[in-house]
Amino acid sequence: MKKIIIAIDGHSSCGKSTMAKDLAKEIGYVYVDTGAMYRAVTLYALRNGYISHNDGVALIDESALQADINASKISISFKFNPETGRPDTYLNGEKVETEIRQMEVSSNVSPIAALPFVRTLLTQQQQEMGKEKGIVMDGRDIGTAVFPNAELKIFVTASSKVRAQRRYDELMGKAKTQEEKDALNYDEILKNVEERDYIDSHRETAPLKQAEDAVVLDNSNMTIAEQKEWLLKLTQDRVSALA
Ligand code: DC
Repeated sequence: MKKIIIAIDGHSSCGKSTMAKDLAKEIGYVYVDTGAMYRAVTLYALRNGYISHNDGVALIDESALQADINASKISISFKFNPETGRPDTYLNGEKVETEIRQMEVSSNVSPIAALPFVRTLLTQQQQEMGKEKGIVMDGRDIGTAVFPNAELKIFVTASSKVRAQRRYDELMGKAKTQEEKDALNYDEILKNVEERDYIDSHRETAPLKQAEDAVVLDNSNMTIAEQKEWLLKLTQDRVSALA
């Protein structure tokens, strides 16, 4: 069977990663979560004190971050976790899968992802990962900038309220203590979702936008099982058409 590149782009918290991971597992492809790579760089910048805030606005020490990138001080990799059946993200050899999903990283990742030198570095790494094809990659610019010639491009969206509710439910499910649960606030999550949409769609370098040849999926009213079936059929049809 011919191996292809499947690019899944779309808004944050619309279930792209779940769809992409499930599809990769089903068809035996490699799955790459590019959002995790931007999150790992953000975690690195936070830990090193390169992000400060002034009146709620993130100020980034770009030259310090760029110097570290140039000195190859940031290495991001994925390792398949047989327990979860999914890849975990590593930053300089340390597993950071939990840390990169926390609110502090979510609130700071969009300005980091807007930096052209960060995008150049991660885009090159992503292109390298897809060299052999047989890959499902999810992100914001996969079908437009990373793999403009991908054989299958999907653009996923859902209303911001639906996405915020899903994110809230996911974080609530992961919260271990009552304190962690009490700290979750739907309105704050909705604000974060809408702010990220705005920054991701308006940045100068590789903004989030639908590729002309992408198939659009609005999953506001779909279950995970329905999406899974829809995506598998679309993939099988595309692969057969190319064979
Ligand atoms: O998919 P996610 O929410 O984990 O992505 C985190 C952030 O990274 C999101 O705000 C946009 C950015 N991102 C990007 O700019 N380009 C990508 N290919 C993937 C993610």
